[in-house]
Amino acid sequence: MKNTSINVLMVCLGNICRSPLAEGILKSKLDSKKYNIDSAGTANYHQGKSPDPRSVAVAKKNGIDISKQKAQQFKTKHFEMFDFIFVMDLENYHNVLELATSEADRRKVRLILNEFFPNDDAEVPDPYYGGDAGFDHVYSLLESACQKIANRI
Ligand code: 4NP
Repeated sequence: MKNTSINVLMVCLGNICRSPLAEGILKSKLDSKKYNIDSAGTANYHQGKSPDPRSVAVAKKNGIDISKQKAQQFKTKHFEMFDFIFVMDLENYHNVLELATSEADRRKVRLILNEFFPNDDAEVPDPYYGGDAGFDHVYSLLESACQKIANRI
């Protein structure tokens, strides 16, 4: 990781559905020389796995390749490595904050949809147990949020 870059971490539960999409979408909008973008999950049960095929498919449909990503678990060390930590829902927001060790850590954490719907505390729904339409919906929410992030960051 380059010290000069701005570091952004996307976080969901499993790091196989929502946050890999958020990582891929934001990467597609920003210069990789200036921005380091990664993702992680608060749970450990999918560590090392590729993204869910349904997330890979909806990304591909929109011209983005997320197939080479590998899941990792969110750890306290990530607070040092990243400047912005965007989380998909309130449960993950609280789980990430539990690992924070300072006010500076806590200030880095934001609910991603507040970038598009300020102060609403809206959540990106977990699409894992649903059908393909859920993945299209998640993609469209994350596209809107990531466009706002890319414009501001
Ligand atoms: P994600 O979705 O948090 O968007 O990656 C999920 C993936 C896996 C599970 C739940 C949510 N799971 O229960 O295995």
